Amino acid sequence: MDFNKLIRSRRSMHHFEPDFKLSDTLFKSLIDMVRYTPSGYNAQPWEFILIREEEAIKTMGEIAFNQTQIVEAGNAIVVLGDTKIVRDPNQLLRDWVKYGYCTQDQVPTYYHTFTKKRKEGILRQMALRNASFAAVSLLYAAESLGLQTCPMMGLSQPKLKTFLNIPEDRIPVLLIAIGKGLPDKEKPQLPRKEVEELIYFEQFGQK
Ligand SMILES: Cc1cc2nc3c(=O)[nH]c(=O)nc-3n(C[C@H](O)[C@H](O)[C@H](O)COP(=O)(O)O)c2cc1C
Repeated sequence: MDFNKLIRSRRSMHHFEPDFKLSDTLFKSLIDMVRYTPSGYNAQPWEFILIREEEAIKTMGEIAFNQTQIVEAGNAIVVLGDTKIVRDPNQLLRDWVKYGYCTQDQVPTYYHTFTKKRKEGILRQMALRNASFAAVSLLYAAESLGLQTCPMMGLSQPKLKTFLNIPEDRIPVLLIAIGKGLPDKEKPQLPRKEVEELIYFEQFGQK
């Protein structure tokens, strides 16, 4: 499917075929596509937790304020942002040198950039921004593999973090219900803003 068609046809699903479970292989194929998402420094500060065990899915539904699509889908993926951003600066720099993104002489400067102390708010912002890109990739990658999704932020973050044992330095960026959607059961797609409402030329406010 071409991208124009894909971006217009993806829907947030609230109804799914029962009993479908994402296999390890399918999950890995999905993330194999998602890992090509761009990220600042190519740091790739994201991780993904697949939840599919029946009891866990029920609990996830409760954590998501009893939204039923999690239980219907039977599978959920949590996209995590890593506030450490660059976890292994030496490995990253080895790649940068190997692929010609910096010279050996520049390594100390880039090492400083990658590891310098930043305010917690800035690190959270960086993690959120990068992992949100990955989350969007995941929605479209799923469609391309014949799966449907519902991106969800209506949930209790503290309960989610406790239930999934997520460390303090990771941010749950998005919960995604994923499975075999039933598009005929969905309401029609809500309209989008017109292009003219969304754009400016050269300066903010300039139409
Ligand atoms: C960050 C984010 C959070 C969302 N949270 C929820 C949610 O908690 N529950 C839900 O049913 N849909 C949720 N949605 C889906 C939106 O309601 C949906 O994308 C929007 O209404 C447009 O519909 P469409 O995706 O079918 O085109 C969320 C979407 C995004 C991007």
